[in-house]
Amino acid sequence: MTKDYTAKEFNIPDLEGLSADGVNAHIGLYNGYVANFNAISKLIEQYSGEESKTHELSELLRRRSFEFGGMRLHEYYFSQLEGGASGLAGDSALAQALTAQYGSIESCMELLKATANMRGPGWAILYYDPQGGQFHIGFTGEQHQGHFVTLPIIFALDVWEHAYMPDYGTAGKGGYIDAYLSNVNWSVVAGRFER
Ligand SMILES: [Fe+2]
Repeated sequence: MTKDYTAKEFNIPDLEGLSADGVNAHIGLYNGYVANFNAISKLIEQYSGEESKTHELSELLRRRSFEFGGMRLHEYYFSQLEGGASGLAGDSALAQALTAQYGSIESCMELLKATANMRGPGWAILYYDPQGGQFHIGFTGEQHQGHFVTLPIIFALDVWEHAYMPDYGTAGKGGYIDAYLSNVNWSVVAGRFER
């Protein structure tokens, strides 16, 4: 039996360029992913073994990882804002590894921003491959497709319309990306890399 997940609470300060109303509405969507994951898990258990529910089960099983991705990625996304904006310490393991691979942190950020600014909804994600000893920047459409399987996520940036429309409108993805990045507490991100 799948245990229920509980929506996390985020301690997010006032942000530059991102309104509290927009952030609170976005957290409401996150809560929906948690509730939907729990609900779908229960339906799958209910329908399992029922031959008349084969099609429903098939779709629910596909849908469940979408809801899980929405839940977990938003937890990364909102926790990156907790504690207030703070730059990446130059002597951190993350800063040193990014500089070694990309030449500079700025170069990595430019790649990440260009990925985030591609057409279409999804997430720009910085992964680290401990086995290959390198980072990968990727784009996952929706939240469950296109991931680098097994790689831990170091940083996740939501670029669905709901993330930027409230404050920046239909053509405002670039402005939103800049605003989000300016509010990141990079010590949270550096801690993930260290772990
Ligand atoms: Fe979102």
